[in-house]
Amino acid sequence: MNVHHQQPFAMLPVEEAARLRGSGPVSSRPYFDPDWWELERRAIFLRTWLHVGHVCEIPEPGSFIRREIEFARASLLIVRGRDGAVRSFHNACTHRGTQLVEEAAGKRGQFSCPYHMWTFGADGRLLSAPDFERFHLAKEDCSLKQVATEVVGGMIFINFDPSPAETAREFFGPVAAEMDKLPVARAIDFTEWTYEIAANWKLNFDNFQENYHLRFIHPRTGELALSPENPFGYPTHYGFLGPHRSQTLWRNPGPMDIPASLMLAGTRTAALAQQDGEPPFPKTDFKLFPCFHVVGLPPAQLYTHTMMPLGPDRTRGTIRMYWTSDAENASRLFTREFNAMAVRDVLSEDRRAVEAGQRGIASGAIEQVHFQDHEMLLRHLYETVVAKVEAWRAEHSTP
Ligand code: FES
Ligand SMILES: [Fe+2]
Repeated sequence: MNVHHQQPFAMLPVEEAARLRGSGPVSSRPYFDPDWWELERRAIFLRTWLHVGHVCEIPEPGSFIRREIEFARASLLIVRGRDGAVRSFHNACTHRGTQLVEEAAGKRGQFSCPYHMWTFGADGRLLSAPDFERFHLAKEDCSLKQVATEVVGGMIFINFDPSPAETAREFFGPVAAEMDKLPVARAIDFTEWTYEIAANWKLNFDNFQENYHLRFIHPRTGELALSPENPFGYPTHYGFLGPHRSQTLWRNPGPMDIPASLMLAGTRTAALAQQDGEPPFPKTDFKLFPCFHVVGLPPAQLYTHTMMPLGPDRTRGTIRMYWTSDAENASRLFTREFNAMAVRDVLSEDRRAVEAGQRGIASGAIEQVHFQDHEMLLRHLYETVVAKVEAWRAEHSTP
């Protein structure tokens, strides 16, 4: 298949991007303060498109997944309807609130509440309820409460805002079309792992937005991304698009001492890219607001990482490697597991540093944090968050 990919971000060389972004310290408060977190919750997380799953998890009419979204105290049922549409509902019976589903995933033609047997269709409508005449209600007014849902690039996004200011596609702008072309849009399976970390979601995300730490935290794996001409392995370009960001990683052109096993996995990835008729070009990450990281280009990259806040100082990460075909033989299965575990190894090296960072910053001793030029993505996330909180405050201030 020959798909034409375009860089959706305006990619700037580092010096130019740094000049535009500015410098200067920022307040440390947004990284730990519970009152600030409450503002972010209302200003951002309860009214922004959030990544919660993939269509391959609900392949058939009646297929559903349950997702717990702790910051909203919500349990969501994400269901494929008979019409093929993907909808999300609060997992709460409209009679007296009982949760309808305990399983994490499954397939059902209808959803019956265990308490008094109100029964709902996959489209959320109340189909039947015992002795319903005694309620003096219309069934049409008893549908499950819906949450705005949209699929982009095969990935499912939800928005708790009852009437979102923009569609997910509008929110992602030109990145949406690129996501549609990524292999993740055609994925049929994935390898997933999750982690919980004692750190603010921004502090955790920031760890994946700078390479400054590579040579100190990942000396073993970092060798692949470092060389005398780029001793910190800094990216070559940074891109900005509204609240979203991007970076293009530098590629070490010199001969590398790559372990044979990694070579095998790398060769396989390159071969897959070529199968798809893709020109090899440097790896570009999309950092999508607020907490979603997808390695976008080249399209052989199948990695997504969501960092869902659980509170001001706790975050759950969900990492997936997506696959567009069955692992039809042992060597392909090995390559997949190897790739996934190689990523997992690197991330486990980050945890200690990120949690130590949270403990230090939450002590309140450090009132300001500093960003260097190659931490400009961190600055952009920080500035975007502050701007969203300020906008929300302006909307909700009493004159
Ligand atoms: S609470 Fe669900 S039927 Fe009564
Ligand atoms: Fe790292």
